[in-house]
Amino acid sequence: MCGIVGYIGEQSTKDFIIDGLKKLEYRGYDSAGVFLFDSKGYLKKCKGKVADLEKKMDDDNLSSCTIGMGHTRWATHGIPNTKNSHPHVSNNGKIFIVHNGIIENYASIKQILIEKGYTFQSETDTEVLVNLIEEVKKSNPELKIGKATQIALNQVVGAFAIVVFDKDSPNELVVAKLGSPLAIGLKGKDFFVGSDPSPFIKETNRCLYLNDYELAILSRKKGLTLRDFRTNRVKDQKIEKLKLQIEQVEKGGFKHFMLKEIFEQPKCINDSLRGRIFSNPAKIKISSVEEYWEKFKKSNRLIFISCGTSWHASLLGEYYFEELARIPVEVEYASEFRYRNPIIYKDDIVIPVSQSGETADTIAALKLAKEMSAFIYGICNVVGSSIARETHTGIYTHAGPEIGVASTKAFTCQAVTMLIIATEIGYKLKKITKSKYSEIIDGVQNLSDNVKKILKKSNKVEEIAKKYSKSKNFLYLGRGYNFPVALEGALKLKEISYIHAEGYPAAEMKHGPIALIDKNMPVVVVATKKGNYKKIVSNVMEIKARGGKVISIVTEGDKEIKKISDDFIEIPECHELISPILANIPLQLLSYYIADFKGCSIDQPRNLAKSVTVE
Ligand code: AGP
Ligand code: GLU
Repeated sequence: MCGIVGYIGEQSTKDFIIDGLKKLEYRGYDSAGVFLFDSKGYLKKCKGKVADLEKKMDDDNLSSCTIGMGHTRWATHGIPNTKNSHPHVSNNGKIFIVHNGIIENYASIKQILIEKGYTFQSETDTEVLVNLIEEVKKSNPELKIGKATQIALNQVVGAFAIVVFDKDSPNELVVAKLGSPLAIGLKGKDFFVGSDPSPFIKETNRCLYLNDYELAILSRKKGLTLRDFRTNRVKDQKIEKLKLQIEQVEKGGFKHFMLKEIFEQPKCINDSLRGRIFSNPAKIKISSVEEYWEKFKKSNRLIFISCGTSWHASLLGEYYFEELARIPVEVEYASEFRYRNPIIYKDDIVIPVSQSGETADTIAALKLAKEMSAFIYGICNVVGSSIARETHTGIYTHAGPEIGVASTKAFTCQAVTMLIIATEIGYKLKKITKSKYSEIIDGVQNLSDNVKKILKKSNKVEEIAKKYSKSKNFLYLGRGYNFPVALEGALKLKEISYIHAEGYPAAEMKHGPIALIDKNMPVVVVATKKGNYKKIVSNVMEIKARGGKVISIVTEGDKEIKKISDDFIEIPECHELISPILANIPLQLLSYYIADFKGCSIDQPRNLAKSVTVE
């Protein structure tokens, strides 16, 4: 995601645009840009923060500009640099756009426009959209920018929140929304635009949130007109009176970024899958796998290198790739791999997994593997990050900026991404049948809705958290692909609540940890209906027999484990390979609420950094 702002009215707008972008930097911060208009037009953009952009504008007198737009970027298409920064301008130099979202079919549209003689300065999908609008206008000269934008939007597939300006209509701004947020602030004849209200909440509390498929024309002369851009039907304007404070808006009304990011997961999953998974017929499309298929086809081993939560996601990936693609997998702590003089064979594929793409140990391990001539396939969240740039190819998880130090949505998007890659490779290698391929695709397509169902039970998780928030130690147990989930749940708890917690394979209990069990040791058991369910039932019985308290994560409809647990949280019935991803959601909430009851600094826990860029 990224942050977009806009303004049209009677005031000089440069300060609003810059200050508004600063309030939206939590949404993306790899580059920034503004377009301001008086009678000529002023475009300035650069890699880096809004403050860097502001410095470049210091000597420019922009007081006469009373219309404008701004963008602070979180790159999805094209690395962070000046050329890929927004605003983008159409070939004729008249139409300007800022965009939050992903245009899935940008490549095919770009090809058509190139054949029509359009040239492109950037690698972004956004620049394709602004030139498509120009092409619509060129083909229908009688059209004004609002209608031309509307026609263009009906030709694109994907997600967008956009602000568009056309020098041929200097008294209008066009805004539209599908899948990405956009809010309009109203104050007299002034219109303010933001990805959320934080840029304008000091100016006005009168706010119109655009709904999907809505396009608004903000006109100095005619005020605000609102239409459905599919049907062209005029829409009612539901203007709200905001009661939020600035800091609440950045967190979307949530108390912490971590909670916001936990609740963002349904959307992030959709963003991760956008353009990569289709139905009728069921299909997965991953360009980097297609492009380097020969590497995957002859690979005899995958080696994941990662740290922390990304290492847990890699462990889950091991189960997926061995189960579906039947390729041997090793999962290595990057910090161990880099110093161990590892053995690398020429057909090995090394897979660095990293949310930030800046983890020092993972960078070092990847460079070592590259020197040893391994093929490097990266799984990162930050476009253009150091790890992404070091790899031969890879895939971005599109989870959006993760501000909370404790990783939540990034883990989920890493797991989903690995699942669809493993499924696609397994199917291409003929290791899984078409029906299994389709079943998994169905399961993945239901994932976002199933996460929503779990999030609706957050109050129940909060009650359980309160009951155990005074505990000093926790054990987390899981079997099979629920073992990585147990490890991840334990890490979440310890890093934000400072309570000691250990994850273990459930069967390992009898090899030592069971000595720890007493009434003061809550044991979280990931006991979903899949896998060795009967075995996990006996593990729970062993814990109960020693006076332990059991909090179980079970599949809806479970009877056996619920009966013998002290507390339980249910997850929806789902495909077996999806269940570990779902089971992790209640564990994220459990750790969050326990830490919140303890009054911990949840978004910035002590001693931790979001990205460990040092050894
Ligand atoms: C997880 O909640 C922690 N923030 C930490 O373990 C993190 O996963 C680890 O530092 C790896 O970071 P990366 O994914 O950005 O490489
Ligand atoms: N897809 C656009 C780009 O890569 C917008 C990205 C975003 O929403 O952050 O520039």
